[in-house]
Amino acid sequence: MKDYSNYSLLKHNTFGMDVKAKRYVEYNSEEELQQLILTLEGDVLHIGGGSNLLFKDDYAGTVLHSAILGIELTDENEDEVLVRVGAGVVWDDFVAWAVARGYGGVENLSLIPGEVGASAVQNIGAYGAEAKDVIALVEAVDLQSGEKRCFGVAECDYAYRQSIFKKGLRGKYAITYVTYRLQKHPVLKLEYGNIKAMLADKANVTIADVRQAIIDIRNAKLPDPKVQGNAGSFFMNPVVSHEKFLSLQKDYPQMPFYEVEGGVKIPAGWMIEQCGWKGKSLGRAGVHDKQALVLVNLGGATSEEIITLCNTICCDVKEKFGIDIHPEVNLV
Ligand code: EPU
Repeated sequence: MKDYSNYSLLKHNTFGMDVKAKRYVEYNSEEELQQLILTLEGDVLHIGGGSNLLFKDDYAGTVLHSAILGIELTDENEDEVLVRVGAGVVWDDFVAWAVARGYGGVENLSLIPGEVGASAVQNIGAYGAEAKDVIALVEAVDLQSGEKRCFGVAECDYAYRQSIFKKGLRGKYAITYVTYRLQKHPVLKLEYGNIKAMLADKANVTIADVRQAIIDIRNAKLPDPKVQGNAGSFFMNPVVSHEKFLSLQKDYPQMPFYEVEGGVKIPAGWMIEQCGWKGKSLGRAGVHDKQALVLVNLGGATSEEIITLCNTICCDVKEKFGIDIHPEVNLV
């Protein structure tokens, strides 16, 4: 176990904010976590890879990080495997592991930054796939009592970028293991965006090809946090009523949209671009020039600069489209 006081979080947030935690603890097992819980005082923040966070200031409590590792095949039948993965495993290492063995279900989620624990909190999603589609079981420890609890996927209450761990049970549990259900005879998901077009000249497309296509798309569109601080999509895509959508479509017939449960999802990146923000900046906070949903630290930006840019964009989108957009990134 690593246990530090006054610890710099610079390497633990992809926005590159140089803030400190009063205490920072990294644990290697459920038992270590349970011991550690007895010593916790004040506020507690559990982080993963820090790829969906914006620290506004130093953190005056304890920051916890899981280093529970391991990928283990726990069950299988003709069609499926169950794979139990430690919350601290880097998400894309798990995807690479699955793809190398021919197990399908997570290849569309290639190269998403962050760790396995966060995949179950955020219900990460990309290119027509979501974590909830492959999660079978989530193991977690109550951060108050230290008791262990297992959540079946239905109990996790998953929706677009939502789960019980972000709502009713926010901050109450630390996820320790996630068990995924993967397919031995993968059914490829090629419908989103230009994936099919990118693979058009391949004869027998495999999940490894899909993974490579998605890596190429992401690398072309999304900034590398090692080069330019960012936290991926800064905003969630809003879902509007059919009525609102139809009235907008009259004014913007070229507007992209996706029919979803409860309404129509409008890409916030498109609206931000229409407002003229793509590639623009305010101070040292910028809007990525290839994907307007992503805010970037142009170098030395303060959290205030990022938040000012965020608020200005929200106001402009509201004024032009009459739609409220909200950050996906957690402001701490
Ligand atoms: N668009 C624009 N301009 C932009 C950005 C997007 O016109 O600057 C348009 C695109 O042309 C397309 C539509 O908006 O018609 C959707 O764009 P894209 O496929 O890039 O996806 P997104 O809705 O902007 C979401 C996820 C991403 C994920 C992609 C692909 C959210 C908040 N974001 O973005 O996730 O990679 O779909 O599935 O849902 C992340 O969460 O950090 C993330 C990168």
